[in-house]
Order: sequence, then structure tokens, then C-alpha cells
Amino acid sequence: MRVGSTQHDVGICLLDADGAVLEFDADFARIVELPWASVSVGRVLSELVRWAPPLPLPSGAATSVQQDLGDARVELVIRTATTGPVAYCVSAERKHTETVLARQLRVARQTLDSVIEASPLAILTVDERQRVVMWNRAAERTFGWTREEILGRPYPLVPEDERPEFEELFDKVVLRGSGFTGVESTRLRKDGSRVETRMHTAPLRDAEERVTGAMAMLEDLTKTRLLEEKVRHSQKMEAVGRLAGGIAHDFNNLLTVVFGAGELLSLDRTLSPSSRERVSEILGVAQSARELVAQLMTFSRRQVVRPQVIDLNERLRESGKLLRRLIGHDITLEFDVPDIPAWVRLDPSQLDQVLVNLAVNAADAMPQGGFLRYSSSVRELSVAAEPLAAGRYACLEVRDSGTGIAADILPQIFEPFFTTKGAGSGTGLGLANVYGVARQSGGNVEVESEAGRGACFRVHLPLVRRPLTRTHSGPHAVPRGSENILLVEDNAGVRVTMTKTLQALGYTVTAACDGVEALELFDAGLAVDLVLTDLSMPRMGGAEMAKRLAAQLAERLAEPSGAQPKGLPVMFMSGNLDVEDLRAQVEQGRAKFLQKPVSLRDLSQAVREVLDGLQLVHASVGP
Ligand SMILES: Nc1ncnc2c1ncn2[C@@H]1O[C@H](COP(=O)(O)OP(=O)(O)OP(=O)(O)O)[C@@H](O)[C@H]1O
Ligand SMILES: [Mg+2]
Repeated sequence: MRVGSTQHDVGICLLDADGAVLEFDADFARIVELPWASVSVGRVLSELVRWAPPLPLPSGAATSVQQDLGDARVELVIRTATTGPVAYCVSAERKHTETVLARQLRVARQTLDSVIEASPLAILTVDERQRVVMWNRAAERTFGWTREEILGRPYPLVPEDERPEFEELFDKVVLRGSGFTGVESTRLRKDGSRVETRMHTAPLRDAEERVTGAMAMLEDLTKTRLLEEKVRHSQKMEAVGRLAGGIAHDFNNLLTVVFGAGELLSLDRTLSPSSRERVSEILGVAQSARELVAQLMTFSRRQVVRPQVIDLNERLRESGKLLRRLIGHDITLEFDVPDIPAWVRLDPSQLDQVLVNLAVNAADAMPQGGFLRYSSSVRELSVAAEPLAAGRYACLEVRDSGTGIAADILPQIFEPFFTTKGAGSGTGLGLANVYGVARQSGGNVEVESEAGRGACFRVHLPLVRRPLTRTHSGPHAVPRGSENILLVEDNAGVRVTMTKTLQALGYTVTAACDGVEALELFDAGLAVDLVLTDLSMPRMGGAEMAKRLAAQLAERLAEPSGAQPKGLPVMFMSGNLDVEDLRAQVEQGRAKFLQKPVSLRDLSQAVREVLDGLQLVHASVGP
């Protein structure tokens, strides 16, 4: 590399027959990097330049050797000579074929090319006339044009409606030399479809710092948008769930009064037949209302469930008959269920709800007949997929050949009360229910459908270990009794009807309006066999009261004159179980819980069970 005009790329050095230096020029010294020219005369070349070839050379021969020095490659050529004392003539030449700098540049360039090629972002450059100069593989993938098709051609990605904005941005980069980052806009693919992108750009400059074009990186936002939509949807479902759950809770209290009063009336033997008929009408309607509320509770995941470990595949096979009865005979029902078990933790009655709701929907969508297929498989998620955590899932697929679901209503079908069926024929709670059951079990439900092409619902439920023993539900009975019951309930209507109901069953009832009053009564020495309490009440709720009762009881037992019998059963009742640790105890069968509204049959049975010690229900709430 020429540094100054007096320097040359070739230097000369003359040696005698022993290889000792006779004379050399300044260029030689500089090129081979001799440290101090004057000290070198008379010394053997191979001592001064370690990489010089050994001497003597065979007569008439020439030899050469190359070495990288600094940022250049130097070639030494040694020829034999016969001019006076000169035996060898050595030339040193700086080579320009590829300097070290150039090689480093080449390596850097290759690295940059690899980065650009491997980038998941579309990276491209255009010149100042908007012709494409560079186009990486991600750009090919995202937009569909290959490099051959696009290099040197005008930039084709900008849709007409985005043109003005694009020109403005382009001018900003090219004329003012300032890039921008994070701008979202729509771009075109080769097939004319649109793709949402986020752009980052910078101006490109030549050696004189003049802007020669622009570089752009484009992120394809399609997947991000889908994910955002999923998250938004599940947040919306959560919000609707909370709202629905709240309404259901209040409504349950009202229903408890209706039921209680109605059932009491129906026990009245003096009623005329017509009055009796009306009472039964009221109870019938109240029962429908109860079912509706229960569905809402399921959707909002407030339903108290008794999950069991069950074999989904076995239950599916068993449900064949039930489903057959539900759907018309012009629908072909198919089951594709493997013989191996798929253990899931689920309330069996909830699984039935799911199967039935999906079957009824499918049947509704196939008035002229078609096929309905239930299949089950195992799906493994190696990474979490909103809202599912990574893990193994049983996948229940229900596919029909019905009308399908139009894209514009698809996002709404799981919302409660969303229905396309005429008034009176659909409440819009079926799928809300399926959704609630699936989510409450740690799974989810997905749908795939297009108008006219049938529908396919997939319910994912986490797989669990096989159970050690099978669980059984107990027998039913409607017994009475005569023990003392302390009823704690803040809603006056519920309190009055429940008191009357319990009295009608033969019990002696003392009522309190909240936990504080109950404790006072207990403190005053009230003798009680069972405490039946609401959960959420002003001043003090049921869970807290139960805890304090247990403490008071322990104190009483410590006294020598302790009057109370050992252990006081507490039974909780509520429209929903919002005390987390209590909920866990109930679901594990360690605490007794009554779901409001409470029917006469449930109440009489539960009270008897507890009093007869069939259930372990000592007040043991909290840590
Ligand atoms: N298999 C299906 N094929 C076509 N459309 C369906 C299917 N399943 C559900 N849908 C659509 O989703 C809507 C909501 O279903 P969902 O089960 O929640 O309520 P519904 O069936 O209308 O009323 P309900 O189940 O309470 O009687 C339906 O009204 C229907 O438009
Ligand atoms: Mg339905």
C-alpha cells in the first residue's frame, strides 16, 4: 500500500555468497520491516528476516516466499547473480492482490451476509429511485417475491392507499437522512394479500456520506396479532365470567327464597288442588331458573365441582347411547376412541354437559342429517400455548358436517347468551358451559369452522395419573330429625324460609344474622348440634366464624365443666365458594358445603349426613 509518493512497492537488497547483506534500499528496509537500516549491513539476511528462505541457492535457481506483514502481504524473490561480490539479488514486493484488511473486510462482509440471511425479519435495501438492491430470505418468505424476481425492480410492496404515507417516510430517510423505527403499516404480498408489518429503517450512505438509498427491516405482525387477539378474547371472557358469576350469586339467594317458600307450601296438606297446581308451577319454573343459574356458574367457574379422576375414553364409549337418543336418526354417529385409558380430572356430570351441549349444537346445525364424530387422542405441548401450560392433554374432538359457523360470529360463540337460534329455542349458554368446564379443569376449548363446511370443536383436558381407587357417590334418602341447629344467614328472606324448612323437618332452629351474632349466642351458652352458615356476610363471614367457633370450643373443652359435646359440625352454604382454602377442602370432601339455592331434599339429606357423622366436617378453616 502506497503511503507517500517517494515510497515504492518494491525494494531491493544485494547479498554476497554467504548471504550477508551488501546493500539495500530504504523501500526494502521498510517493506520487510527491518528495524534500523544501518545496523543491518554485513549481517546474514536470514538473521534479519526470519522468514527469508535459506541460502545458498542451487546455481541458476530462484526462489520466492510470501509473508503477511502489517496490513499487507510481502513477497521475497531471491535470484542468483554474478556481478562482482554480489551473489544474490533479493527483491521485496508488497502485494495488492488481497491485503489483510481486505480479507478482514471479506470476513466481516460474509458474517453480515449470514446474519441478514438468517434473520427472521425481512431485510431489504432500495436505492434512491426505490429500486430493490438487497432482498433477504425472510423477505422472500414473507412477501413471496424471489430475489431473482425483484432485484433491480421498483419496490412493489406498497399498497396504493398507503402510497402517500410511504413517500413521506421515504423522503424523510433519503432527503433528510434520518431513519425511523417501529412504524406499523400494511404491505402487499406477491399474491395481492396484505400483511401487517412493523418497520425499522435507516439511510444508506456512500464514502462521501451522501445518502444513496434506504435499508428497511420489516416484522411480520400476523402471528403477534393473532396472539394479541387470543389474549384479548380470554380477558373478555374472564370479565364476562365475573359479571355472570356475580349475577348468578345474587340470583341464587332470590331462588332460595322462592324454593324454600314454595316447598313449604307444597307440604301444606290443607291446600286446594288448584293452589297445589300453582305451587308446582312455581317450583317448576324455579327449577328451570336454577338450571340456568347453574349454567352461568359453570361458565364463570364458580360452580362447586366434585372432580374425580376418570377415564375420558371409557366415559365417551359409555355416552354413546345417551348421545344417540339426543340426535335425530338421520345423523350418523361415529366414535373413534382408543382402547387405552385417558385419565383426566373432571366432574363426570360436567363431562356429560360438554358432550351433550356439543351434540345438541351439532344436531341443530344438521337439520337434514349428516355425520357427527367423537374422537379422542393425546396431544403433547412442549411449550405453553395460551391459555394452556406445557404438558400432556387429552384432546376430545367433536366434528360435524353441519352448516358451519361464519367467520364474523366465530369469536363470539363461547360468550354466554350468544345465540343465532330464534327466541325460545336457544339460550346461548351451551358453549359458555363447555368453555367454563374446560377452563375450570385446566384445559381449553378451540373451534375450527367455516360457513358451509361443518364445525370441529376440540376440548383439551390435562392428563393426570391413573387413580388408585374408584370413587362412588352415596345413596339418596330424605330423612328428618330433632336436633338443635344454629342457622347463620344475613339475607332475611333466606333466613326465614330456611328456618321454617328446617323446623318443618323437625329440627329446633336458632337464627343469627351474621358471624358476630352467632358467636355471641354461642358464648351465651346456646347448645347446638350443627351450625349451618352462609359464607359471605357483613361484619363476619362463615369461614372466619367457623375458625373462631373452633377456638372457643377448644377453650370450653379445656374447662372441667365443659358442657358442649366433642366437636361441633359446621356446614357451609353459598351461591359460590369464594374462600379459596375452604373451596379446596370442600372439593377434597373435607368440609361440607351446600350449593344455594338449596332444595328441601338436599338440605334434609345433608343435615342428616352431618349429624350422623357421615362426613368429616369439623370447623377447620384456614391455616
Ligand atoms: N356445531 C355447530 N355448528 C354450527 N353452529 C354452531 C355449532 N355450535 C354452535 N354454533 C353456533 O354457536 C351459537 C352458540 O352456541 P351455544 O351452544 O352457546 O348456544 P345455543 O345452542 O344457541 O343455545 P343453547 O345451547 O343455550 O340452547 C349457536 O347459536 C350457533 O350459532
Ligand atoms: Mg347449544
